[in-house]
Amino acid sequence: MTVFPKGFLWGGATAANQLEGGYDRDKKGLSVADVMPGGKQRMAVLASDDFEWKLDNEHYHYPNHRGIEHYDHFEEDIKLFAEMGFKCYRFSVAWSRIFPRGDEKLPNEAGLAFYEKLIDTCLAYQIEPVITISHYEMPLVLADEYGGWKNRQLVQFYENYASVLLTRFYKKVKYWMTFNEINSAFHFPALSQGLVKSNGANDFKNIAQAWHNQFVASSKAVKIAHELDSELKIGCMIIYATTYSIDADPINQAATMIQNQEFNYYCADVQVRGQYPAYTERMLSSHGTSFNALDITEEDLALLKAYPVDYVGFSYYMSSAINVTSDDLDEVAGNLLGGVRNPFLKASDWGWQIDPEGLRIALNDLYNRYQKPVFIVENGLGAIDQFDGGQIKDSYRIDYLREHIKAMAEAIEDGVDLMGYTPWGCIDLVSASTGEMSKRYGFIYVDLDDDGNGSLERSRKDSFYWYKKVIQSNGIDLD
Ligand code: BG6
Repeated sequence: MTVFPKGFLWGGATAANQLEGGYDRDKKGLSVADVMPGGKQRMAVLASDDFEWKLDNEHYHYPNHRGIEHYDHFEEDIKLFAEMGFKCYRFSVAWSRIFPRGDEKLPNEAGLAFYEKLIDTCLAYQIEPVITISHYEMPLVLADEYGGWKNRQLVQFYENYASVLLTRFYKKVKYWMTFNEINSAFHFPALSQGLVKSNGANDFKNIAQAWHNQFVASSKAVKIAHELDSELKIGCMIIYATTYSIDADPINQAATMIQNQEFNYYCADVQVRGQYPAYTERMLSSHGTSFNALDITEEDLALLKAYPVDYVGFSYYMSSAINVTSDDLDEVAGNLLGGVRNPFLKASDWGWQIDPEGLRIALNDLYNRYQKPVFIVENGLGAIDQFDGGQIKDSYRIDYLREHIKAMAEAIEDGVDLMGYTPWGCIDLVSASTGEMSKRYGFIYVDLDDDGNGSLERSRKDSFYWYKKVIQSNGIDLD
């Protein structure tokens, strides 16, 4: 007997900027992702003092410009998703296809037409579209000229954008998310807030203000969605890393509690509960700002209260361990979210600590905290696949996913209301943190290397056939 409910949303997830390509086609404007350089130094470049939101073809290459050319191959790609039996497909809309600058009143019809075709293709295969309205790709003008999300004018631009999408597609698309990994700005404000040092990322007040503006924008989107159809489900989306104290020392335990509040909970607490949590002032002041320093109106607070999200979407890749008592800090090089090495865990080739049991904990934690359905909208293993023209044997990826699905089953038995599972990068695409093609997550291999060489041919990996069986058996057949 399967524990996965009937109608469980098995599928896969992608983001426009990482697979579409066609970065300047059909009047699309540049997005922040279009000026993020490829290569392992990407995050360091974005975090440098002098980075500006400009194209710099002389020094950098930009793999997102081409992606995997999904813009031209989407029919073939969705057909492959259908062959695996996907019940849903999570993708994002490139904001700058719809509003090339971001501040226009009227949308670009060519952009809408593209997504209409994409949605219709999914529906033709009975695949439920799940749309992220903004996934690390705000129009460049909004970051460069308007200063990113710290500028309140963006609320209006986003509202207009969300309204256009929702109004156009609400009869075809039931599941939505307002912002991808909204809390990631705690570590990487460039991606989701358009903030780099040259426009204010150094000052936590700007990050907190940007979040507030995004919370208001998110509530406005929820309002629009529910006024169109009260059955629409519109969620938040956070990056969640189960966070352990390295030991039983209460000092480390308290530091873990604070880390959870600052990183895992802060954004979702506002978006799901509709109000700022009790620890807000202490958190803001520990980062050199305060609630009163922010531009927050009574009207904003009423809006947050009235329009919380319907479900909690989250990504889960790794856990994190906290040690503030020892000088001998064994940092984990690759763990993007910081912390120290956990001796009980192995890490991926990119240093992300693999922890399926932590997913069970994450699911219980989020569900019991918020009492709203939860949706794992990203999870997976970034790894190097060997391709010599024959079958791609990615047993390491199958092992990773199997253990995480087992953890999901445990959580469902624990009583968690889990809506679905969309593993990340169901087709190989450009990595967000490094701009590499060689960091692959897919069930489908795409013949393209880090230098842009390759035929772009799509091939089914071993994991493709495995995941197909998992979906067919509704999570029973994991061998
Ligand atoms: C999430 C993002 O953080 O992780 C995705 O929402 C991203 O955009 C994914 O691709 C995996 O990260 P990376 O850096 O390996 O691509």
